[in-house]
Amino acid sequence: MLGVLPEIREEDIKFATRMAREYGDVVYFRVVNIPTYLVSHPDYIEDILVTNHRNFIKAIYLRESRRLFGDGLLTSDGETWVRERRLGQRAFRHDHIATYADTIVDYTERTVGKWRDGETRDIHQDMMRMTLEIIARVLFGKDLADEIEEAAAAINVYLDNFAERFGLYVVPEWVPTPGNLRYLRAMKRLDGIIYDAIREGRQSEDHHHSLLGGLLRAQAESGVPMTDQQLRDEMATLFFTGHETTGLALTWTLWLLGEHPEAEAKLLEELESVLGDRPVTLADIPNLKFTDWVIKESLRLYPPAYAVVREALNDCALGGYTIPKGATVAIFQWVVQRDPRWFEDPEAFHPERWADGLAERLPKFAYFPFGGGPRLCIGKDFALLEIAVALATILRRFTFRTVSGHPTWPLPSLTLRPEYGIKMIAHARRPVAA
Ligand code: HEM
Repeated sequence: MLGVLPEIREEDIKFATRMAREYGDVVYFRVVNIPTYLVSHPDYIEDILVTNHRNFIKAIYLRESRRLFGDGLLTSDGETWVRERRLGQRAFRHDHIATYADTIVDYTERTVGKWRDGETRDIHQDMMRMTLEIIARVLFGKDLADEIEEAAAAINVYLDNFAERFGLYVVPEWVPTPGNLRYLRAMKRLDGIIYDAIREGRQSEDHHHSLLGGLLRAQAESGVPMTDQQLRDEMATLFFTGHETTGLALTWTLWLLGEHPEAEAKLLEELESVLGDRPVTLADIPNLKFTDWVIKESLRLYPPAYAVVREALNDCALGGYTIPKGATVAIFQWVVQRDPRWFEDPEAFHPERWADGLAERLPKFAYFPFGGGPRLCIGKDFALLEIAVALATILRRFTFRTVSGHPTWPLPSLTLRPEYGIKMIAHARRPVAA
């Protein structure tokens, strides 16, 4: 009845790795009533995400998250998606993502300013909170300080419920389980925050410098106005995707650095020689080479979006097999990016592996933390900028060491969150006052 669900529950993220290593690049199993193919060869992944992408839509797991994402960019398909992607791309361009570097420094400094030498912190909590504050500012052009707590709580309820529904054999979100009811209440609160911000954004004459402003300008130019509901879906989508993954990337990176003092020492040396005593600016980013390798390596080992999942619209051939219409195709970055065929000593954190053009030598879909093809992450440039700027800003002031005995385990929900948080001890490097 349950297919492999019990194994998935027991092994979590290790399940997919075991399937791929034991059974190969295309593996069939059933998750309750959902026929699923795990695909783990870069060439087949390219087939699905690029060459034959029209044959695939977003899978049921995401389509079932309508109360949060509605018809936003992440979950929509077909014509709706094409229109939204065009607007989204213009909004991101309009808004000159690069100009957000100062905002990121500013909010990171505020976060760091609250830390004290020697204290133990849950770095996951800190990074989620910080990236939420940053995305609120970037999306709406204003500080959502009062609403952040509520927004964060609502998003946590969504993620808990996502994992729970999956465990309950993919129960649709309209079924009134206690988890679903809690989730629907939380989404109502989030809607309140987002609709208020949209109302203010629409009233603002100068369409202040924000992604919402960029989107309003893009839709005005396109001649097809967006309804409040459409804007709400897009803003809710960007609010979630725009902070959850970057927060996790920073969390896992700080943890990896804490576990690898030799890599951390090289990173600090680079920051020292490029920045000296001053804050990081956009112009510094191309000179922070080792920082870039650390981020690449962290996204390889702990990809915050750890899987891309699709549903086949029609039968199609893949690696000598037929994927039938209606089947789910699961592609795990977690599995492929740790495959010994593409990465030597794949489980090791080794930023130097990215020297000498490894990225160019790899098969295209051996490393794809941001997905690929037409549905490549729209926020990729912003995310990479945010991670680099925030990391450099944090490490000028503090380094972290893991707390011995504190368990660290990635829990696959919609994203790859650390199940028990990540407790680390902060060590001040410079006076905290700016
Ligand atoms: C480290 C940070 C990030 C990672 C690892 C990441 C990863 C991904 C991946 C793998 C996808 C493709 C999903 C699929 O094909 O099913 C995606 C899509 C998307 N991402 Fe990101 N993302 C990050 C940051 C961001 C940011 C900062 C934003 C917004 C500001 C964002 C907005 C989106 C949106 C809207 C989509 C859907 C695009 C579409 O389908 O057209 N992401 N992301």
